[in-house]
Parts: sequence; structure tokens; C-alpha cells
Amino acid sequence: MTTEAPNATLPRFSHNRVHDFVRGILIGNNVPEDSAETVARCLVAADLRGIDTHGVNRIPSYMERVRQGVLDPRAIPELTAATPVVAQVDGKNSFGFLGATMAIHHAVEVAKTYGIGMVSVKHSNHFGMSAWICQRAIESDMMSLVFTNSSPALPVFGGKEKLMGVSPIACGAPAGSTKPFILDMAPSVAARGKIYKAKRRDEKIPLDWALDKDGRPTDDPSAALEGVMLPMGGPKGSALSIMMDVFSGVLSGSAFAGWVTNPYDPSRPANVGHFIVAIKPDLFMSLEEFKSRMDYLYQKVVGSEKAAGVERIYYPGEIEVDREEERRINGIPYTLGEVEALNVEADKVGAARLEPDM
Ligand SMILES: NC(=O)c1ccc[n+]([C@@H]2O[C@H](COP(=O)([O-])OP(=O)(O)OC[C@H]3O[C@@H](n4cnc5c(N)ncnc54)[C@H](O)[C@@H]3O)[C@@H](O)[C@H]2O)c1
Repeated sequence: MTTEAPNATLPRFSHNRVHDFVRGILIGNNVPEDSAETVARCLVAADLRGIDTHGVNRIPSYMERVRQGVLDPRAIPELTAATPVVAQVDGKNSFGFLGATMAIHHAVEVAKTYGIGMVSVKHSNHFGMSAWICQRAIESDMMSLVFTNSSPALPVFGGKEKLMGVSPIACGAPAGSTKPFILDMAPSVAARGKIYKAKRRDEKIPLDWALDKDGRPTDDPSAALEGVMLPMGGPKGSALSIMMDVFSGVLSGSAFAGWVTNPYDPSRPANVGHFIVAIKPDLFMSLEEFKSRMDYLYQKVVGSEKAAGVERIYYPGEIEVDREEERRINGIPYTLGEVEALNVEADKVGAARLEPDM
């Protein structure tokens, strides 16, 4: 557990207000309106789901990349079909959210006709929380696979240097009356964003998340960032991270094998790769039958006999859905320090500041 202050004590901001605020900062940094809308929507989606590590607090680092000229705020990704079901998106060094949005929309459209759509994205940037891409597919009653690579943070099993990314693997499937299935997980014990968040909030981290530069367990987020993240499940987490690099980096023509740039390093383009697949669930049965089978699976999982001390069993993605429902009503909590860092970005471009509204 981190020593994070309970959310109840933090000021809350309505998601619409945060969206408009972030959109204003983006437009002030020469991001076209449509692109700003997409980026703001994806970042706020993360905060709504409680993935605060990959939400609007990323704005200062993204804007620094824009200011340093290593991320092109005006670039529009370009899609080229390779076969009827396969396409490649050249992100053209735009925000990762734009290339990934183009990819999932195309994959879904193609899957409606052919049952499956696969899009590889190259020359992209960080796209934050993978789950927003699964959510887009679910809105169209589609299953999805969402892979990305990322900058070196994790040693391979047996190694000690940062080589692979803490690259999330995500997938989703729609359901009927129950919650959709969304698995979205980094292959490390914890996402590196959780360490940045602890640093931002002056908090300690659990000792099993990372090693310092001398290979010792540490609860200090700054020391952890100088060291390495620990893969989950030893060789299995390390292999999943390599898998993200194979599908997202090697296949796409983007950077791989340790050459993706950290989103907090504004010295050169990131060259991130993604791999996005949409699958039509009603290929072998009706959509109603598929959804009712998903509902059955959900009920069996959450109704499973509980281990000692467990009050409730959650389905993958369910904690996030519950949190989103609560935050849509009560607003998103941010620390005053986080709000101030965002307001500094607003001031730089003369955009409206974020003030508490509830
Ligand atoms: N773009 C990038 O480069 C990048 C890199 C790393 C992480 N991320 C993002 O960081 C986020 C956090 O990743 P993480 O690995 O820390 O996630 P996490 O450990 O919080 O959750 C991982 C998965 O486990 C499920 N889960 C968690 N607790 C559960 C419980 N008690 N019962 C049942 N299911 C449960 C969640 O619904 C989720 O699907 C993700 O959204 C990921 O996409 C992005």
C-alpha cells in the first residue's frame, strides 16, 4: 500500500470541466481542435477509471515534448491498407492517442465485414491507459487486443539493466447486462506511472515494486526511477514485455529492443509502436448468445466461493467501472500540487485555469 491520502480529503473536479481545461492547454500548444478533443477525452477517461497515473497529470510532460519539438502537435496520422483486414498507421510522431484512435476505428469497421481487423501503428507516442481503446471497441460490440511497447524500465529475466518496457497488455469483450471484460495490465508488479505518481505526491512505494540503482529493494520512488522495475511473475512478466515489443515494435517498423524514448525524456522522438486488433464476437453464434455467455461467465467469477478474509470478488475491469460511476457523479480527485502543476501549463499558454467546483 502507498501512503496516498484518502481521496475523500482531496478536492474534486467535474470531468467535463477537466476535459475543457485540458483541451484549452492543448489548443494553446498548437494542437488542432479535433486532436485536442481526442487527447483530452482519453486522458480524462483514465482519471475517471481511477488510472490517475495515466491521466491529465501527464500533460506537463507531454507539453514539454511539444515545446522541445520532439512530438508534433499538428501531425495527423496516416493509414495505409495492407490487405482487406490489415492496415498500418504511420503516427507521424503525433500523440499516441491519435494513431491508436485511427487504428481502433479502422479495425472495428473492417471487423464488421470480415470478422477481424488488425492495425499496426508506427512512429507513435505514449497513449496512456490502454483500456480506453478496449472501451471504444466495446462501444461497437467488439472484442479487442491492444498491445503497445514502451521505454526501457524492466530487466529481462536474469538481467540487471533496464531493457524492456513496462508495456501494458490489454484486451476487452462486451457483455449483456453485466460488466464488460477489460484486462489492462503492465507486466511489472506495478505500472511505472504509479512510481511517478508517488513521487509527485511525496509518498513511499511498496518494497516489492522496484530495485534502486544498486539492485536493492527501495520504498523511495526517486531511487526506484534510477533503478529497475520488477517484472510480475519472474520470467513470465519479462516474456510478456518482450511479447509487447515483438508485436508492437518489431512488426510495426517502430523502435524496439530498448530504443523507445521515455515520455519524460524530451530529448528525442519516442517512436512507440502499437498493435490493435478488433474481433467480431458474433462469428459463431448470435450477439445475444455471446453476451449472455459473457454474463454467465461474469456471474460465475464474481459468485465464486471466496477465500478467507475476502469480502467481494471483482471481474477484470470492474473496480474501474465502479470508480468511473462514482467519479462521474462526485468529480475526480486531484492533489493541490497536481492542480498547480497543471495550472502552470495553462498559464504558459494563457488558457483558463482549473479551479475547484465541488
Ligand atoms: N502506455 C504505456 O506505456 C503504459 C505503461 C504501463 C502502464 N500503462 C497503464 O497503466 C495502467 C495500470 O496498469 P497496472 O498493471 O498497474 O494495473 P492494475 O494492476 O491496477 O490492474 C491490472 C488489471 O487487473 C485488474 N484488477 C486489479 N485489481 C483487481 C481485483 N482486486 N480483482 C480483479 N481484477 C483486478 C484490473 O481491472 C486490470 O484489468 C493500465 O491502464 C495500463 O494501460 C500504460
